[in-house]
Formats: sequence, C-alpha cells, structure tokens
Amino acid sequence: MMQDLIDAAKAARAFAHVPYSKFYVGAAMRDEKGRVHAGANIENAAYPQGWCAECTTIGHLIMAGGTKITEVAVMGNGDALCTPCGGCRQKIREFASDDVKIHCCTEEGKLIRTFTLGELLPSSFGPENLA
Ligand code: THU
Repeated sequence: MMQDLIDAAKAARAFAHVPYSKFYVGAAMRDEKGRVHAGANIENAAYPQGWCAECTTIGHLIMAGGTKITEVAVMGNGDALCTPCGGCRQKIREFASDDVKIHCCTEEGKLIRTFTLGELLPSSFGPENLA
C-alpha cells in the first residue's frame, strides 16, 4: 500500500531545484481521503529562502483540501538514510498523529527504514496544546 507513496516521492524528486546543494529530495504524503500529494525541495540563491520537499508537499496537500497526513515517504540522494529535518517533523506534526508512518527510502525507492512520527519527534508540542 505504500508503493504508490514511494513512486510519487521518486517522481517528485526529479523536480527538485537544487543548484546549490545538489541534494535532491522527494517527499509524498497521503491525506485522510487516501489521496497522494508529492513535492521536492526548492533552493534559492539567497540560501535561507529555500525550502524542503516536505514543505512543498504539505502545501499541495492542504491546497487540495486535505486536512490530515496519514502516511509519509521521503528520499534523498543515494542509499543514505534521509529523514525529515527537525523543522519538517514539526510541520508534519501539525497534521499528523504520533502513529503516522514515515518511510525513508533510497533514491531508487527501496525502503530503508520506517519510523513513526512519535519516534522522530517525541513529546511533541502540537495543536492540542492550544485547544
Ligand atoms: N532537505 C529536504 O528537502 N528535506 C529534509 O527533510 C532534509 C533537507 C533539503 C533542503 C536542502 O534543499 C537540501 O535538502 C540540503 O539540506
């Protein structure tokens, strides 16, 4: 069931705009309706203005009317483990619960390891804190 997510992340990765780092990242997220949204990282000549693949992906999910992230796949360069950065873990947390799976894959789409959001961002601060 996660293969569609991995395929989407791999296809999105090809669109990465990474002239500076050359580090291509692709991400895909499933919403509460089962739909898959994907995105790549987009760097900028003013370096801090670039953003992560997960940010592009969350934007697509929200603008398509999604309200929850139920599953995530991400891949960077080569076979090295590429987990979402700290900031992206928090951004995912806004729309996901601790048990949401995050599949980390090679650039070819082979699964390396699956984490839960709770493992990557324990004891997190989330929307419930402001409810
Ligand atoms: N990057 C992502 O797109 N997602 C992550 O979670 C890790 C880092 C991007 C940002 C930048 O374009 C490049 O990878 C190198 O940091």
